[in-house]
Amino acid sequence: MTDNDDGAQRREQPEPTEGDRPVPRAVLLLVAGLVVWGTGYIVAHTGWPLAGGDSRTPVAVADNSSVSGETVYNNTCAACHQAGGTGIPGSFPPLADSDWVTGEPTAVVAIVSHGLQGDIEVGGETYSGAMPAFGGQLSNREIAAVASYVRSSWGNEASAVDTETVESVRSDHDGRGPWTADELRTAFGGPDT
Ligand code: HEC
Repeated sequence: MTDNDDGAQRREQPEPTEGDRPVPRAVLLLVAGLVVWGTGYIVAHTGWPLAGGDSRTPVAVADNSSVSGETVYNNTCAACHQAGGTGIPGSFPPLADSDWVTGEPTAVVAIVSHGLQGDIEVGGETYSGAMPAFGGQLSNREIAAVASYVRSSWGNEASAVDTETVESVRSDHDGRGPWTADELRTAFGGPDT
């Protein structure tokens, strides 16, 4: 009985003891390196603790004075009238060498602001499609910029259009639907064709 108890005790594993196993040097170096890098990153990017606040470079807020007519054209008009202003024969009239474009600046503004429908002759071809209005989508400044762009691109050599002209055309014809070529001629004096 007693022997058996001793035998059982002898077979027991020794109590585990806490060993002395230091964190490997490489890990310590890595952690130290990360702390240094992180602190350096914060200091370099915020100026902390020398300068308070956020020293990131502010993104330029959209400045309307630099609206690019070319950008407006490429985003808004080129899908139909094409990047080179050539249009697509039979579907979309050209803006290059178009008397509607280089004639009265107010006519171009009106077409872009309110749209156009019915027959219109451009470069000897008659088109009878429909152009949507862009008055709700483009600001007066953007309409002035794109009108100026089409009047001075692809060989067109007509004067620039200012924002005041757009403002007055739009307030004179506020809320109207698409123009027809005849209505444009009556209101603004378009090409005779
Ligand atoms: C969805 C296609 C479409 C888009 C986008 C479009 N147009 Fe037009 N545009 C037309 C069509 C179609 C006509 C001819 C309408 C007709 O037959 O009555 C036209 C006619 C014109 C005309 C008079 C005819 C000419 O060729 O000179 C001008 C000027 C014009 N568009 C300028 C613009 C400008 C500037 C933009 C961009 C702000 C623009 N268009 C965007 C389809 C479009």
